[in-house]
Amino acid sequence: MRIVLDAVTKQFGAVKAIDDVTLEIVDGELLALLGPSGCGKTTTLFAICGIHRIDSGRILFGDLEVSGLPPQRRSVGVVFQSFALYPHMSVSENIGFPLQVRKESKAEIERKVDEVADLVHIRELLERRPAQLSGGQQQRVAIARAIVRRPDILLLDEPLANLDAKLRLEMRSELRRLQKETGITAVIVTHDQVEAMSMSDRIVIMDDGRILQIGTPDEMYHRPSNKFVAGFIGNPPISFADGKVEDGRFVTEGLDFDLPDRIKKASVTAGQNITLGVRPEYLQPDFATPIEAEITFIENQGREALYDLTLAGGHVFRSIQSGEPICKLGDKIRWGIDADASFFFDDQGKRI
Ligand SMILES: Nc1ncnc2c1ncn2[C@@H]1O[C@H](COP(=O)(O)OP(=O)(O)O)[C@@H](O)[C@H]1O
Ligand SMILES: [Mg+2]
Repeated sequence: MRIVLDAVTKQFGAVKAIDDVTLEIVDGELLALLGPSGCGKTTTLFAICGIHRIDSGRILFGDLEVSGLPPQRRSVGVVFQSFALYPHMSVSENIGFPLQVRKESKAEIERKVDEVADLVHIRELLERRPAQLSGGQQQRVAIARAIVRRPDILLLDEPLANLDAKLRLEMRSELRRLQKETGITAVIVTHDQVEAMSMSDRIVIMDDGRILQIGTPDEMYHRPSNKFVAGFIGNPPISFADGKVEDGRFVTEGLDFDLPDRIKKASVTAGQNITLGVRPEYLQPDFATPIEAEITFIENQGREALYDLTLAGGHVFRSIQSGEPICKLGDKIRWGIDADASFFFDDQGKRI
C-alpha cells in the first residue's frame, strides 16, 4: 500500500517534532526512517498509524486520506520498541488478541495464529508465556501479532534496539525475508545507520523534525546531499577538514591539492570556504593526491586495520585497509587521497 505524507507537521508545545514533512512510500517497499535521537522518527511513525493526530498536512494510504481516522480504522500493524506483549497471556493468545478484539471465531483465530507463527518461525513456542522467551523470540511474537490481521502496512519502532549484537544481525535478515515474503509495505525506525543501510530499499534521513535526504542506501553513501548525511552514513565515519579554495586548489593547514575538475566547474570562487570529506577507504598508501601525516592511532581488527593520520595543521583523517597494520604508531607517512571520489561541501554544508 502506497503511503503519502504531504506537508505533515506535528508540534508538542513549542517543539516541532515533525516539521513540514513530505514523503511518498512506494507500495511494497521497506523504508527506513533514520536519524539521531529526538529527530522525530517515532512521532512520524505514530502519525502514520494514527496514535498521534497531526496538526497540519495530510496522510494518505493509497488514494484514501486517513489523517482523521483513528488507529483501528487504519490497516496498520505496529511493533513497538518495547514489544509490549501481555505478560499474563500465552504466545498464541498474544498473537490472536487483535483477532479476538474483532470477535473472529475461535477456529479462524487458531488458523491465522498458526499461519503467522509458521511465518516467523515460532510454531513450537505458542503455549509459552512471554517471560519464558528470549528477547529475539519476544520480538518474533510482537511481529506476528502485528501482522496477524494482514494489515496493508507494517510499522516498526527500533525493532532491533533491545536485542544483543548477534541476534540483531540475525533478525535483520529475518525481518527482510518476512517483508519480502509478505510483500507488505514497511516503515522501520532506527538510529543505527548500518541497520538502515543493510535492510531497506530506501532511507529517509531526518534531523530536527525535517527530512534531509531520501534515497537508496547507495545514493546515501555515494551521493550524500549534505555534510550531515555524509557524516551520519558510513562506519568508520568520513573525515572532514575545513579549508579554502585558492587558485583552483583546496588549501588547508598541512594539505594543498588541485581540486577535481567537476568541483572547479561547479563555480567555486577563490577564497570560498569549503569542507573536504574523505571516506576512510579513499585514503590509501598508493592513492594519487599526496597527504603527509603522522600515524596517531591504530586499531587492528584482524581482517582490517584502522589508522588515524594527523596532519601538520592538526586535521585528523581516518584510513581503513585490509590486512594487518603496515606501520606503527608515531610513523611519518606519505599516503594519498582519491580526490575524485572525495566530497566537497559549501559553507552551508551542501555538497558541491
Ligand atoms: N508525547 C510527547 N510529548 C511531548 N514531546 C514529545 C512527545 N513525543 C515526542 N516529543 C518530542 O518530539 C521530538 C521528537 O521525538 P521522537 O519522535 O520521539 O524522536 P525519535 O524517535 O527520533 O528519537 C523530541 O524533541 C521529543 O522530546
Ligand atoms: Mg524514537
